[in-house]
Amino acid sequence: MSISKTVLSDDLSICRILNGMWQVSGGHGQINRESAISEMVKYHESGFTTWDLADIYGPAESYVGEFRKRLPLQELVKSQALTKFVPNPGPMTKSIVEYHIDQSLEKMNTDSLDLVQFHWWDYNNLSYLDALAHLSKLRDEGKIKHLGLTNFDTKRIKIMIEKGFKLVSNQVQYSILDQRPEKSMVPFCQKHEIHLLTYGTLLGGFLSETYLNSPAPHRADLTTFSLQKYYNMIDTWGGWKLFQELLHTLSQIAKKHNSSIANIATRFILDKPAVAGVIIGARLGISEHRVDNSKVFDLQLDSQDRVLISSITGKSNDLFDVIGDCGDEYR
Ligand SMILES: NC(=O)c1ccc[n+]([C@@H]2O[C@H](COP(=O)([O-])OP(=O)(O)OC[C@H]3O[C@@H](n4cnc5c(N)ncnc54)[C@H](OP(=O)(O)O)[C@@H]3O)[C@@H](O)[C@H]2O)c1
Repeated sequence: MSISKTVLSDDLSICRILNGMWQVSGGHGQINRESAISEMVKYHESGFTTWDLADIYGPAESYVGEFRKRLPLQELVKSQALTKFVPNPGPMTKSIVEYHIDQSLEKMNTDSLDLVQFHWWDYNNLSYLDALAHLSKLRDEGKIKHLGLTNFDTKRIKIMIEKGFKLVSNQVQYSILDQRPEKSMVPFCQKHEIHLLTYGTLLGGFLSETYLNSPAPHRADLTTFSLQKYYNMIDTWGGWKLFQELLHTLSQIAKKHNSSIANIATRFILDKPAVAGVIIGARLGISEHRVDNSKVFDLQLDSQDRVLISSITGKSNDLFDVIGDCGDEYR
C-alpha cells in the first residue's frame, strides 16, 4: 500500500486523505496537548502528512507549530498544513487581514502558509471581496503560498473568478449522503481547475460498522460535536431507517472488497471529479484509524457498487433542494 498524493498546485502536493484538526478544538473529548502532538508525529511517519486546520480550531495552529519543531528538516519539507482564515464579518482592511495571517504564521512556526482557506459567514456583507484582495496581496508577497476557500457557494466563486482572483481549492461537505456539490459546484470547479477538499465524508463516524444495526441514537449518545452535526444531516436526508438501509448496503460492498464501511465511503468521494482529498477528523490521542484508512488507497469500487449505493441514495430527500448549494447550511 502506498498513500496516494495529489498536486493542489505546482509546488503543493498533498496526501489524498488529510488529517482534520477540528476535533482538537473542544467538543470531541478531552485532548491532551502532549499526546496530541506525539500522535501527529505518528500520523506523519505513517505517511499521513497533510493537516487541515483553522485559526478558529482552538490550539490546532499551535499544535502544528510545536509538531513542526519536532520534525527533522528532511521530514518537515514533506509535511503540509492547510489552515483557514475565518474572520467575523466586518470591515476587512489590509492591517486586519495581515494581523490575522501573522498570528497564524507565528503559531504555526513558519514564514509562509501552505494554503489559506477563507471562510465568510455573511454574503450580504461584501467585505469578503476586500479580504480576498488583501489575502491575494499577502500571497504575492510570500506570506501565503496559495489561496483557497471553504464553504463558498458556486455563485460567489463565479464572482471571484470573474474578478480575477486565483483560487486553488474550496472545502465543502461531500459524502455519500450529501452529494450537493454535484449540482453546480463540481462542474464549475472542473472548468476552472479548482480542487475540492471534502469534510463530513464519514459523517463524524456514523459511516462505520459501529452504527450498523444500532437503534437511532438519543441526543445524549451524540458525544461529539461532529456526531451532533451529522445526525441532523441524516435526519434531513431521510432519517435513521433509510440510513440503516444505506449502512447495510455499504457493509455488503465492504465485505465483498474485504474492506470497511469507512473505506467505501471515503473511496466513493475520492473517485469523484474535482475531488483532490478527503479530510478525516482525527481525535488525536483518543482514537485513531490509520491502518484502516490507509487501505482506501488499494480499494477500487466497481459500477455494481455504485448502482447499489444509488439505489439507496435515490430514495432520500434532495439536500440541494432542502438546504441549498455548498455552505448554505452555515448561512
Ligand atoms: N470547513 C468546514 O466548515 C468544516 C466543517 C467540519 C469539518 N471540517 C474539517 O473536516 C475534518 C473532519 O471532520 P468531520 O466532523 O467531518 O468528521 P469525519 O471526518 O466525518 O469523522 C471523523 C470521525 O470518524 C471516525 N473514523 C475515522 N476513520 C474511521 C474508520 N476507518 N473507521 C471507523 N471510524 C472512523 C472517527 O471517530 P472516533 O474518533 O469516534 O473513532 C473520527 O473521529 C475536521 O477535522 C475539519 O478539519 C471542516
